[in-house]
Amino acid sequence: MEKFIVHGGTPLHGRVKISGAKNSAVAIIPAAILSGSRCVVSNIPRINDTIYIMDMLENIGIGVDFKGNTVYIDSSGIKSTYIPANLANRLRASYYFVGALLGRYKEAHVPLPGGCNIGVRPIDQHIKGFRSLGAEVYIEHGIINAKADKLVGTNIYLDVVSVGATINIMLAACMAEGMTVIENAAKEPHVVDVANFLNAMGASIRGAGTDVIKIKGVSELKPCEYSIIPDQIEAGTFMIAAASTRGDVLVDDVIPTHMEPLTAKLREMGVTVEEGENSIRVVCKERTKATDIKTLPYPGFPTDLQQPMAVLLGVSRGTSIITENVWESRFKYIDELKRMGLNAKVEGRSAIIEGVESLSGAEVSATDLRAGAAMVVAALTAKGVSEVHNLKHIDRGYESIEKKFIQLGGDIVRVKE
Ligand code: EPZ
Repeated sequence: MEKFIVHGGTPLHGRVKISGAKNSAVAIIPAAILSGSRCVVSNIPRINDTIYIMDMLENIGIGVDFKGNTVYIDSSGIKSTYIPANLANRLRASYYFVGALLGRYKEAHVPLPGGCNIGVRPIDQHIKGFRSLGAEVYIEHGIINAKADKLVGTNIYLDVVSVGATINIMLAACMAEGMTVIENAAKEPHVVDVANFLNAMGASIRGAGTDVIKIKGVSELKPCEYSIIPDQIEAGTFMIAAASTRGDVLVDDVIPTHMEPLTAKLREMGVTVEEGENSIRVVCKERTKATDIKTLPYPGFPTDLQQPMAVLLGVSRGTSIITENVWESRFKYIDELKRMGLNAKVEGRSAIIEGVESLSGAEVSATDLRAGAAMVVAALTAKGVSEVHNLKHIDRGYESIEKKFIQLGGDIVRVKE
């Protein structure tokens, strides 16, 4: 077990390079199964979630060679369509093996996924999609079993906007017979990234990034080389940390349009945000103003950024309200942040935050991935010394987080418990 010891209160200064997007990588790596041959994917973040996904590939006989941030995947020698539970339940994205294996081999047996505990996380829309394409799907002893003689394209309307269901249906449909149309599709940047990767393998997908995606089935996919997009959530975490510590940070290797929901909010709060071609500079000299946040599917404010945002709102002038509209229970971290002096209360799906002059260092524990990131931001913002425990959650999703903060002048060290 490891923990961070953080001496907070120093404004962050300098330049930070953003890694590849976790939520693209965890879909694109299993999607490589569809080629049945060799794919090279670069800009993969070296984090536990991508390693866990690669472990699953290797377990079913797929060659994986992860060098630096590039993974070489050879899916020609696949041996099984069964994923073991001890590998699948380490993260949420293991459900992408259903779409990828079903799409290529018309059969998949994947244990129900794990991942952060942020309320009920149903997969009914994924299953509805697979069934609509003609697969028989049943869950038995905690395993999702999907099988089809053939998959046939159809119209699928998602009852809720779901990133996972949109991607999973694209995976299953790209080698189905005929045209599949996903209506009310998710529009997140990583949905577009996965569609671009599939198209690079020879799939025919149009409309990704809008709420109607059309997938014309093809009979073969081919090897490809692809580089994944920068991580919108990691970039946002550093932008918020720059503001909450009242620093001046150039967040490099980002796609500024992906950051617009956050950029707009930071500007509303009085932060200077300058957009470059592939970078964003965040400068904050004075105490920020309170604002309200409502999390929504893209292009709304991302649910995965409301936790670090709570830290910034916590030291802003006035009262702010965060309304969480995506997950039913995503405020567990508020109790931890209260140990640092956050003045907040949770009422149903809202957190009401009264800004305080400053937070004070304390011992806290990461309750999930994004909560962990918020605790690191809070520790860097607070006056005095903090300890952040339970780093396993943070290590699932942030590459070299402490090294990047150290480069910006943050005083943070990782030590054994
Ligand atoms: C993805 O989860 C991300 N995870 C989440 O990030 C992120 O919070 C979420 O999208 C929303 O942006 C990955 O990409 C691996 P959804 P996903 O399906 O795809 C409901 C992180 O910290 N729903 O878009 O599982 C669901 O309950 C993680 O990186 C159904 O009702 O989320 C939720 O309320 C946490 N039925 C809403 O839709 C379904 O079949 C959105 O979920 C599927 C979802």
